[in-house]
Parts: sequence; structure tokens; C-alpha cells
Amino acid sequence: MKIISSIEELRDQLRGQLRTAFVPTMGNLHEGHLSLMRLARRHGDPVVASIFVNRLQFGPNEDFDKYPRTFQADVEKLEKEGVYVLFAPTEKDLYPEPQEYRVQPPDDLGGILEGEFRPGFFNGVSTVVLKLFSCVQPKVAVFGKKDYQQLMIIRNMAKQFALPTEIIAAETWRAEDGLALSSRNGYLNAEERAEAPVLYQTLNRVAEEVRSGRTDIRKIEEEAMAALATRHWKPDYVAVRKRSNLQPPSAEDLANQEALVVLTAAKLGNTRLIDNLEI
Ligand code: PAF
Repeated sequence: MKIISSIEELRDQLRGQLRTAFVPTMGNLHEGHLSLMRLARRHGDPVVASIFVNRLQFGPNEDFDKYPRTFQADVEKLEKEGVYVLFAPTEKDLYPEPQEYRVQPPDDLGGILEGEFRPGFFNGVSTVVLKLFSCVQPKVAVFGKKDYQQLMIIRNMAKQFALPTEIIAAETWRAEDGLALSSRNGYLNAEERAEAPVLYQTLNRVAEEVRSGRTDIRKIEEEAMAALATRHWKPDYVAVRKRSNLQPPSAEDLANQEALVVLTAAKLGNTRLIDNLEI
């Protein structure tokens, strides 16, 4: 595997490649990331991964500095997956000057849910992903459904900018007890780790309530938030939304059996976890 940090060298290395499959990451790779690499391999060749902890998508009080950086271990994992190039730019490589041109997702998608609780997050994500796409020029790029809203925003960005990159969605990888794999799970202490699967159980309970025909969605969401709070979680949201645009379903949408997803973000101790489940 070639490890490349400069944009110029990356372009030289990939010149003439028309079927590149790309998986952008922030490193600290776990089985979920590796499943993205395998999916990428099914859709293109060569597979290019990136590791870049993108300062633009972290708020001032978020965990940019303590975000886990495990470069050597990540390299070994990617080598085993047969990744052809690892693009690992430094901040100077990717942002040699302040990144003043940004991608601003529309408020009705980028300003809700995660966007409401993490202002600027999707601006930072979209900006870096567009820039990484410009560096790698992939035919396909793989994103996990674990970050459901992110996936949707990147998809819409690719469509609206007519990017020549197909966005592929990968299923969420879960531990045996249901907890969605995430680099931030590493922040949990043993007691919190034992409690963490309750978030997925909550999503399942909400999904069952909706499937059973209940239409009082706000009430279902409130009950779920209250149940989390009694177990000492601090939920930001539990939200049943339409899969098509992440807006709340109307009575008519429910009657028409519109495809739905339930999304959540909640803090357990100092760790903020997100998860979702298609209903
Ligand atoms: O999902 C992530 O790890 C990041 O948001 C991404 C897509 C690599 C952009 O920094």
C-alpha cells in the first residue's frame, strides 16, 4: 500500500485510473470501516482510503484534539484489506491556506438533527468531502448508514454539483449486543459500554411502535427520550423522519406508508453517540 500525503503525488499515482473506489475516514479504524473497504472493492478498483481528522467539522468545544489517532494500527488494517493507496494529508497539505470557499448544505437538511446540535458540522464535512473527491477523483465513494444524515447530504451534494462520483451506502456494523461501531465508543468506560446498547434497543422500540400503527409520532419520540433520561442518558433527539428528506412525516405520509427512519443522538457520560434504524 502506498501512503501519500501530497495532493500532487496522489494525482500522479492515480493518473489514468477510471474506476477508483474511495473510502474517506478520520482513522481509528474498526471493523465497520473495514466493511466499507470491502464494499468499495466490489464497486471499483483500485481502492483508495483516506485518513484525515478534519478540523472544519469540529465545533470549538468538541473533541478535535482528543479524537483518537492510531495511524500505525490503521495502516496495518488497510494493508490487510488490500487497499492500494492511503491518502493521509497533513492539515498543511489539505488546507495550505485557510479554506474560505465552503460547501453550505441547505438548512432544511443540514440545519436539522445533527446540524441543529452541531452547527457548522455539515459545512465542514461537505467541504472536506468535496475537496477529497477533487483530489482522488473517484468513480464511487462509500459512506456508512451509521451517519445517515451525512450520507444523505453527501448524496445530494454529489447530485447538485453533478459530481462524477456515485455514492454507495454501507449498512451499519454492530457489535453483538447491537451497539453501532464508532470510533467514539472508545471513550466509554466499562459501565457505560455495558449501558450503550440501550440506544439501539430504544430505536427498535420506537420502530415497533410505529410499525404497530401508532400515529402519535411526537409522543413516541418523547417517551423514548424520557426512557433514556431515566437511565441517565442526555438525549439530544429521538426523531422519526421520512427517509426521503429527513422531515417529520405528516398524517398523510403515515397513511401512505412512506418509508421512515428513526434517528437519535444522546450523551452517555461525556460521550455523544448517534445511531439510526430504518423502519
Ligand atoms: O464520517 C467521517 O468519518 C467523516 O465525517 C468524513 C466523511 C471522513 C469527513 O471527514
